[in-house]
Parts: sequence; structure tokens; C-alpha cells
Amino acid sequence: MDICKDVECVRAFVNIRKQQSKTIGFVPTMGYLHEGHMSLVKASKSMCDITVVSIFVNPKQFGPKEDYSKYPRNLERDLKLLEEAKVDMVFIPDVDTIYPEGFSTTINIGPLANVLEGAFRPGHFDGVCTVVTKLFNIVKPNKAFFGEKDYQQLKIIQKLVKDLNLDIEIVPIPTKREEDGLAMSSRNTYLNEEQRERANTIYKFLLKAKEAFENGIKDTDKIIEYAKAVLDVDVVYYIKIVDKETLEEKTAPSKYDRILIAVKIEDTRLIDNIEI
Ligand code: PAF
Repeated sequence: MDICKDVECVRAFVNIRKQQSKTIGFVPTMGYLHEGHMSLVKASKSMCDITVVSIFVNPKQFGPKEDYSKYPRNLERDLKLLEEAKVDMVFIPDVDTIYPEGFSTTINIGPLANVLEGAFRPGHFDGVCTVVTKLFNIVKPNKAFFGEKDYQQLKIIQKLVKDLNLDIEIVPIPTKREEDGLAMSSRNTYLNEEQRERANTIYKFLLKAKEAFENGIKDTDKIIEYAKAVLDVDVVYYIKIVDKETLEEKTAPSKYDRILIAVKIEDTRLIDNIEI
């Protein structure tokens, strides 16, 4: 497995493979890898000749009061997992490589970045879009793999690619869950045993909401009211049922809409979603 720390190294690696007509699959990550990330790697390996993974905790997508400095990191373990998965190359830039002195460009994709997560985390998706655009330009993949766990991010990246005519196929991958249903996330590591127990009520809530819809309740407020009794969290930032493409809020949902939730348990912010 090759390891690149700068842009020239990635370009040299990719250019050789492109000259050999190899297809490049790309999995951007912030590290602290879990089975969710590894399912993206697996998909890339099955669909592309070469798989490139990036590990970069992107400061631009964290707000001033968010967890950038304490975000979990374990590069040694990550590299071992990627080596075992037979990834071809890992890009591990430092902050100055991605944002050298004088860097000043921001990618803002418009209103889709200001709702749901964006309403609570101003600038978050500008940071995501900026770094992902840079990574796409450095790695030049044919396909890039994103998890449905970050559903709004997935839709925003699809829009970014469409709006900017980037010649990259975005491949969505279903959420990987723990046995009790909790969506896998690097942030789950912040939870102690008691909080971890409460965190599994998020998925229980989503399933209950789906059950309500399937049982004929077709009003968003009533669906939430029906399901909320199972939810044991400290703060609910939002629960919304939205159109699966436009993310427009639905008061009277229909099949294939998506229910999204963001909550806090003690100090840990968690998100999840499923198709209703
Ligand atoms: O989903 C993530 O881990 C990050 O938002 C991403 C896409 C790697 C950009 O930093």
C-alpha cells in the first residue's frame, strides 16, 4: 500500500494508473475508521481497479465550539485496517498541504447547505464542499463513495458534482449499524456505557416512525408524536421528514421520503436517518 503525504505524490500515483486505463475509486474519510468506512472501501474495491482513501480531519468543517481538537484519531490502526483491506494508496495530508498560507476559496452550494445540519452548524457544509472539491481535484477519481449515514452530506456532494460538472460518479452506500441498531460513527467513541445504551433509542425511534407511517399515519407531527416515547436523549435538534432528493420538508410524507434526526446525549451530537 502506497502512502502519500503531498499532492505531487498523489498525482504521480494516479497519473501512472490512468495511463494504464485503470479506474480510480476514492473514499474520503476523517480517519478513526470503523466498519462503515470499510464498507465504502469494499464497494470501491469491487467497482474500481484502484482504491484510494484519504485521511484528513478537516478543520474547516468544525465550528469554533465543536470537537476538532478532540476528534478521535488513530493513524496507526487506520493504516493497518487499510493495508489489510488491500487499499492501493492512502493520502494523509497535513493541514498546511490542504490549506497553504494564503488559501482563501470557499465552495458554497447554496440553500441545501443551510437547512437541517447546516442550520445548526453554520459553515459546516462549506468546509465539507471545499475540502471534497480539493480532494477530488487532487485524486481525480472516476467514482467516490459516501455513506448514507450523513444523508445531507451525500445529497450536497451529489449537487456539487452536478453543479460543477465534475466527471465523478458519487456512489451512496447504506449505513452500517451496530447489533442494536446504532449507526456506526467515529463519534460513538465519546459515549460511556450508559450513554451508549441510550444512543440505541435513536434507531428504535426511526423504526417506530416508519412503523407509524406504514400503519397509515400520514402526518409528520403525528408520526413523530407516536414514535417519540422510545427516544431517550438529552437534546433533540431536529426531527424532519424530507423529500429524499431536494430535502424539502414534508408535512404529509409519502413513500421513499427520508426521516432525519439530530440529537445530543450529554456532550455528544449524533445524527441518523432512514427511508420512511
Ligand atoms: O464524512 C466525512 O468523514 C467528511 O465530512 C469528509 C467527506 C471526509 C470530508 O471531510
